[in-house]
Amino acid sequence: MPKVTVVDFMGKVQKEIEVEKGTKLLKALIDNEVDIVHTCGGKARCTTCRVTIHKGVPTKKTQVQHELFEKLIKDGHTQFDHPAVFLSCQVEVEDDMTVSVSEEFNRVIHDSRGKDTEDGITPDPVWMEHEVPDWWGIK
Ligand code: FES
Repeated sequence: MPKVTVVDFMGKVQKEIEVEKGTKLLKALIDNEVDIVHTCGGKARCTTCRVTIHKGVPTKKTQVQHELFEKLIKDGHTQFDHPAVFLSCQVEVEDDMTVSVSEEFNRVIHDSRGKDTEDGITPDPVWMEHEVPDWWGIK
C-alpha cells in the first residue's frame, strides 16, 4: 500500500499513513486525524484543503482543479502557481508521497474543519496530464 508522509514546513515528519491505492488524499488525511481544513467538503470550491506535495507529485490533475487554479492565478493568487500545489480533495494516492498542509492560517481561523467528504473525488474527475519538473521535490 502507498505510504503518505505528512511533514511540517521544516520537513519534520508529523505522521506516516498507509492507504489503499486510489484513496482520495483528503479522505486519507481526515481519516488519520491530520489537521486539515476542508470547508467545502471536498468539492474543489474553497481551496482550504490545499497541500504541497514534496515527493510523489501526481502526473495527473483534475480539470476542475486546473481551471480553478488558472482563475485564481489570473486574479493574483500566485500561491497556486506551483507544480507541487494541489487540492487534496482532487488527488488520488497512487504511490508513496510526502505532503505538507499548506493552509496553516486556515487551521487557525476556522472553528470547524469542514463538512464531511465523500470517498471519491467530486465532481467526477476529468483527468489532465500534469508535468512535474525535474528540479522539484525530495529525491
Ligand atoms: S477545495 Fe474545498 S475541500 Fe478541497
